[in-house]
Parts: sequence; C-alpha cells; structure tokens
Amino acid sequence: MELVACNADSLLHATNELTSVPYGIFSEGMMVGFILFDNEIYKDGYYWILRFMIDERFQGKGYGKLAIGEVIKMLSARVVCKQIRVSHIPHNIAANKLYKDLGSQKLES
Ligand SMILES: CC(C)(COP(=O)(O)OP(=O)(O)OC[C@H]1O[C@@H](n2cnc3c(N)ncnc32)[C@H](O)[C@@H]1OP(=O)(O)O)[C@@H](O)C(=O)NCCC(=O)NCCS
Repeated sequence: MELVACNADSLLHATNELTSVPYGIFSEGMMVGFILFDNEIYKDGYYWILRFMIDERFQGKGYGKLAIGEVIKMLSARVVCKQIRVSHIPHNIAANKLYKDLGSQKLES
C-alpha cells in the first residue's frame, strides 16, 4: 500500500486549493523531497501538514526530520497556532517514529 499520495496529485491539490502551500525540500541544489501544508488555520487553532515525503534515495539521512522541523517552527511561530496536525497510515513506522520524536501526540479520529 502507498504510504503517501503521489506528488503529481499533491500539486494538483495545491493548484485547486489556494490556501495550500507546496514546498520542495532541497539539499545542495538537489530536490530530495516535498511537503505540502495548509496555510489557513482551522477554526480550533490548528494547521494541517497535508503531504510529506523524502525521495527513497535520500531517506534515512536526516532530511525528513530537518524539513518538517522547519515547517513546524514556521507555523508554530504564528500567534494563532495552537496545534499542528499530520496523519499517517497505521503501519507507517518511519513516519510514526519521526512524529513521536518531534513530540507529537496521537489524536483519536
Ligand atoms: C517518513 C519520511 C518522511 C522520513 O524521512 P527521512 O528523511 O527518511 O527521515 P530522517 O532520516 O530524518 O529520520 C528521522 C528519524 O526516523 C527514523 N527512521 C527513518 N526511516 C525509518 C524507518 N524506515 N524505520 C524506522 N525508523 C526510521 C530515523 O532513524 C530517524 O530517527 P533518529 O533521529 O532517532 O535517528 C520518509 O521515510 C518518507 O518520505 N517516507 C515515505 C512517505 C511517507 O511515509 N511520508 C509521510 C506520510 S505522513
């Protein structure tokens, strides 16, 4: 099963949803990953990170942790931000570990 939607779908989403913001993740001029978040706050004071991936050739090198850490820093600096949400499928061990390491707490859906 796919762990994340393909980036073409995510770019289409970003084109249709004007509040969503796509970023390439670059290292030394090379694109190593992609992240998409919603720039508009939800009514209870949270932001959504919608898509996040590191190209498999570059996984396990610390890029994911660094990149999502930067987005969290940027969003949490906004005074209105109370929470940042991201979801993953249950068996995505790498994402689960990364989000836990960054201090995330599980929300029941
Ligand atoms: C999840 C993902 C973004 C992590 O990015 P990454 O650059 O590979 O992760 P990092 O190298 O920054 O590693 C972060 C931590 O996760 C751990 N980790 C990375 N891959 C792992 C794996 N396959 N299994 C277990 N732990 C893993 C690392 O050991 C590291 O822990 P540490 O800081 O204690 O050493 C990346 O694996 C990915 O794109 N996966 C496919 C798409 C996906 O699942 N996206 C998330 C959807 S919500």
